[in-house]
Amino acid sequence: MPRPPRPTPPPDLFGEDRPDRFLTGLQRFTSLYVPLTGRKRYRPRPPEGGRPAELTVARREYVAPDVVALRLVAPDGGTLPRWQPGAHLDLGLPSGRRRTYSLCGDPADRYGYRVAVRLIPGGGGGSAEVHRELTEGSRVPVAGPRNAFPFARERRVLLVAGGIGITPLLPMAHEAERRGLDWTLVHTGRTRASLPFADETATLARRHPGRVVVLTDEEDGRPDAAALLARAPRGAAVYCCGPAPLLDALRRAFPAGPATALHFERFTAPPVVDGKPFTLRLRDGRELPVPADRSALDVLRAADPATAYSCRQGFCGVCRVRVLSGTVDHRDRRLTEAERAAGDMLVCVSRADDGACLELDH
Ligand code: FES
Repeated sequence: MPRPPRPTPPPDLFGEDRPDRFLTGLQRFTSLYVPLTGRKRYRPRPPEGGRPAELTVARREYVAPDVVALRLVAPDGGTLPRWQPGAHLDLGLPSGRRRTYSLCGDPADRYGYRVAVRLIPGGGGGSAEVHRELTEGSRVPVAGPRNAFPFARERRVLLVAGGIGITPLLPMAHEAERRGLDWTLVHTGRTRASLPFADETATLARRHPGRVVVLTDEEDGRPDAAALLARAPRGAAVYCCGPAPLLDALRRAFPAGPATALHFERFTAPPVVDGKPFTLRLRDGRELPVPADRSALDVLRAADPATAYSCRQGFCGVCRVRVLSGTVDHRDRRLTEAERAAGDMLVCVSRADDGACLELDH
């Protein structure tokens, strides 16, 4: 299947009739960066707000023993694209890995983004690389911000964070207060010392008595999902972010609670639902069986550890591959109909029918 021609950047996002500077820079970056890494690589997509393809680490600080927060600024000190609470930024790491992190600073700060990264021993290596390599002064290729966890601004909200899951919810709490919403933030974790941004949640709690609750396993026992949800006013929306067991427990308990909407943000790949076994055929002729309960990305990574990925949830686009033949069961939230028709597939979530074979350009 022939590749489509390289896209022309859309007009400037501020309305001028000229190519957008950020997208043009991003295209230049990818044309240089991809061949250098020698891997099947991320193809960035347009951000929501325009501008920099590269930011500088202006400050790094530990906000918990294993969580480093980075302040990223434009190399020329200029303003950055606007973002909304819940937005993410994609970071290109020195190894060529891409990772997606929630923005956790102040959306009104137009001169810097803040992300926070928990070190995951034995993880995919991205968090260790951020902790080890991204020192003050480092240049970091970025794409975004993008918003895959939008804050819908219902009048009553319960924000439930597990550990590092506080990152998208901190700006949401500030936004809820700014908008005069009826909000509550619950931050859970193993111990108080392990909770990132404990000083900022303490400040929020002092300023807004009764709106911030901190629960730790050490002092309060393991959080009970039904009890957490019972803190929501009737008819409220619940936003939660944290480890998979917490999110799964909240989802199971949600129908019996008083809230009416549940929005959540995962850190890990969701379980495969209604998966059927199928086969991947690679350029070198290898055929890789994908079991019903595993993703195509997992199988590709087992065969080729350099296979690129980031969110593993079908929204960042990093794991995109071109399908040369076969019918894809698209399950992502990213690709347009035109991209799907052109043969693109996000292998972290998308699959094929029972017994089918997908021939990949990989
Ligand atoms: S890894 Fe993000 S879309 Fe697949």
